[in-house]
Amino acid sequence: MMKLFVSEGNPHCLKVLAALETAGVRCDVQVVSHEEKPVPFLSRPSLPALLLSNGQHLFSPNAICRYMFEVSGQECTELCNQWLEWEATDLQPALLQALHMAVLQGKASDVPKVLTVPLSYLDQNLNKAATPYLTGDVVSVADVVLWAALHPFLSESPLALGEHKSVRVWFDHVATSQSCVSAAQKVLQGKGLQAMKSFMQRQPAPQSSQCKGTQSCNSSPAEDDEGERAVSQEEMEAAALTWNKSLKDCPSTTDRLHPILPQEGRRNILLTSALPYVNNVPHLGNIIGCVLSADVFSRYGRLRGWNMLFVCGTDEYGTATENKAREEGLTPQQICDKYHTIHASIYKWFQVDFDFFGRTTTEKQTEIAQDIFWRLHKNGFLVEDTVEQLRCESCQRFLADRFVEGTCPHCNYPDARGDQCDKCGRLINAVELKAPHCKVCSQTPVIRSSKHLFLDLPKLEAQLEQWLEKSTSTGDWTSNAKQITRSWLRDGLKPRCITRDLQWGTPVPHPDFKEKVFYVWFDAPIGYVSITANYTDKWEKWWKNPDQVEMYNFMAKDNVPFHSVVFPCSLLGAQDNYTLVNHLIATEYLNYEDTKFSKSRGVGVFGDMAKDTGIPSDVWRFYLLYVRPEGQDSAFSWADMALKNNSELLNNLGNFINRGGMFVSKFFDGCVPAMELLQEDKKLLALVGWELQQYIQLMDKVKIRDALKHILNISRHGNQYIQVNEPWKKIKGGDEERQRAGTVTGVSVNMACLLSVMLLPYMPAVSQTIRDQLNAPLYCVNTMLQGTGVFACVLDVGHRIGTVSPLFQKLEVDQIEALKKRFGGQQPEDEPPKKKTASQSATSTPAPGDTGVEVTAANTRADPEKASQLTQAVAEQGEKVRALKAQKADKAVVTAEVAKLLDLKKQLALAEGKSPESAPTKGKKK
Ligand code: 2FM
Ligand code: ZN
Repeated sequence: MMKLFVSEGNPHCLKVLAALETAGVRCDVQVVSHEEKPVPFLSRPSLPALLLSNGQHLFSPNAICRYMFEVSGQECTELCNQWLEWEATDLQPALLQALHMAVLQGKASDVPKVLTVPLSYLDQNLNKAATPYLTGDVVSVADVVLWAALHPFLSESPLALGEHKSVRVWFDHVATSQSCVSAAQKVLQGKGLQAMKSFMQRQPAPQSSQCKGTQSCNSSPAEDDEGERAVSQEEMEAAALTWNKSLKDCPSTTDRLHPILPQEGRRNILLTSALPYVNNVPHLGNIIGCVLSADVFSRYGRLRGWNMLFVCGTDEYGTATENKAREEGLTPQQICDKYHTIHASIYKWFQVDFDFFGRTTTEKQTEIAQDIFWRLHKNGFLVEDTVEQLRCESCQRFLADRFVEGTCPHCNYPDARGDQCDKCGRLINAVELKAPHCKVCSQTPVIRSSKHLFLDLPKLEAQLEQWLEKSTSTGDWTSNAKQITRSWLRDGLKPRCITRDLQWGTPVPHPDFKEKVFYVWFDAPIGYVSITANYTDKWEKWWKNPDQVEMYNFMAKDNVPFHSVVFPCSLLGAQDNYTLVNHLIATEYLNYEDTKFSKSRGVGVFGDMAKDTGIPSDVWRFYLLYVRPEGQDSAFSWADMALKNNSELLNNLGNFINRGGMFVSKFFDGCVPAMELLQEDKKLLALVGWELQQYIQLMDKVKIRDALKHILNISRHGNQYIQVNEPWKKIKGGDEERQRAGTVTGVSVNMACLLSVMLLPYMPAVSQTIRDQLNAPLYCVNTMLQGTGVFACVLDVGHRIGTVSPLFQKLEVDQIEALKKRFGGQQPEDEPPKKKTASQSATSTPAPGDTGVEVTAANTRADPEKASQLTQAVAEQGEKVRALKAQKADKAVVTAEVAKLLDLKKQLALAEGKSPESAPTKGKKK
């Protein structure tokens, strides 16, 4: 008989017990303690574990659950598998983080924030499915697994459920099963979340990549008072060896010779960012969504020694351009010329370093699009059909999909566009829209019929799925990209019309369709190919070379289906050995303050305005990348930008880099002093090496926002190191002390040099300035050519540095307030005045532990000036606490200083407009 080993308080065991009881399988269950080793060959117990009758073990909780159901004769359907995968890859990381907060940090109030994204996803799908259970009318393993995973949170209180009504209904429905409830009772013993405390204490803290941008993860200077990574002796020795490596002899990565072509024996990467529409000025959300993210990755890739070609250009055809031309009284061609130049100059200002920035209205585009068309035609992947189209009689033209709006036929969202619904994400045929109206004149359009050509997606579906299976499992696809693609396929593919009754487009070469042009979404992605062809005649070496080339496509999530389904189908159907996407990187949306960017309402910062703010391009880049909507939507906020500039850039990063350089200039006549590494220095080298390694691992996976945090961690380590060692005092001491000052200074400037390289993808100008100030040798950029990176001493004893000066400037409150006013996003004027709360009269600071006033996130107001002062105070107090601890000071003294620190953090949270509970406190609540 099978044997199942479980332990109390382990959330994964709750799943398997629930599955076991629901499936009704016979199995011997053994409850073991944490110390026992039920599986003799494992040095650390891994629970749950299922011992099969053939002697094999299963360890993955979801695999065990699936197995139970299969044994009982209930096969796991495809849909069921998809839910299990989602549970493991998307829900679990969020749940673990939520458990960590609620159980270990006493921050249950922050849980809803962490769970919103997965719960909304679940809610939407339950809504759409309209069945009582996830995969149909009966309980499946997916229901049991998800139910058990969520049980600890959802059973306690409506906690974390917020708006998610369908989740509540489903959850309660599953809970009517006695099997699930009794499993929960066995594992949690009626103690709720607290039952998992001991389990959670033995788990590693959630990684930054898992906590998608929630406050608790943006480790503030003092956050790791108790949580500093332990460094082993071996790690220190290894770091000291690496320190002595030379980067001189690595192959140079600096020069780029155009045209860049794939090379034998190298990693050849073709990098694209979605082609921006030419008919408007891009806003910050557009910029971070594709071109800026792709730029960071391409700069990083070059540091890694990859052979990269980064192409982009303006997407110029379509009705939108025709309309804009009408609006501005220009021809479509003039509009394209005008806006192409605007786009190019905006990206130049943001230092987006394309290898080639082209456009889609070129002869090459016509040539290549028509070639692909004829191939699809010849291969039998085009079908002809008569379609009913919407025509606006008052505007006297056929309405392109995006120029008609109405109610979504699938989900009834009232503002659906004619091509896609922003709410449910599904594709729409414009004529299916309920209550359609012309976007230009608001009249109701009439239906007219006309003959068109369709790409036969159903015929290509099997091939597509086969390719997708491979691409998504071997490449890096963001989880939204996988989900969106999956949900498209789930609905079944339908033929897609690729022709339009317009003038401004690539002409359809077929004689029966002379008056028509290609639909923009058939045409635009071909722009990547034609832009490359305008860059080099040897474009086929990139585009018809899937064995030698890897392709990364960067975009915002609304572009996903066209890159994962429609365009690949065009290329597969062309049967011409085209390179298809290997890594599809899609961002979520960036909001502006608490609303959306809107050109018409004048809300938000648009690309051309950023330079008029006086804030340097690098600082814009930094902040946009810091809030990159990676994994979930995020928001641009002026107050937050000022705060991050003043705390992270000025006080943390800039301060550290400046201190190192200043010490060399002031105390050592501008030459790097001799260094003699002590244990403490080696420990620092190991810590820095670890951060570098994390950075590389994350960047390799295109987790750009998460990787940035590791740069800031390094300068935090550096500031602390300087603070503890006080070289400015030691330099005045005896020989030994002076030597110590030298070592600390030498290590610090070398860290500054490493930071300049890690910063290069994010802040290229600042990176260059630092390297100039340090007079760093060119080869310092070789630090990431090898696997996990090399933190080596590149500024050796005797090296003469250049002139050091501050890197960043403070953003003042009045400056920020003025900008905020100028760009909108203010509270509407007619809003009733808010009740004054403790947070607004921010001078009265609550005493530690004072919970007399209820302050919620909604009624707090940020005070950037105060927040900036407090950030500084928190940093200083944090350093004080650490120094005391390092000196093993008296416990009572430490406790008193820690209390002060917690108080400051609370005040900071208030000044940042957050609820004080969300202040990152590591101190255990007693
Ligand atoms: O959404 C957009 O801005 C489109 N112009 C993107 C096109 S991407 C590619 F297919 F060209
Ligand atoms: Zn109209």
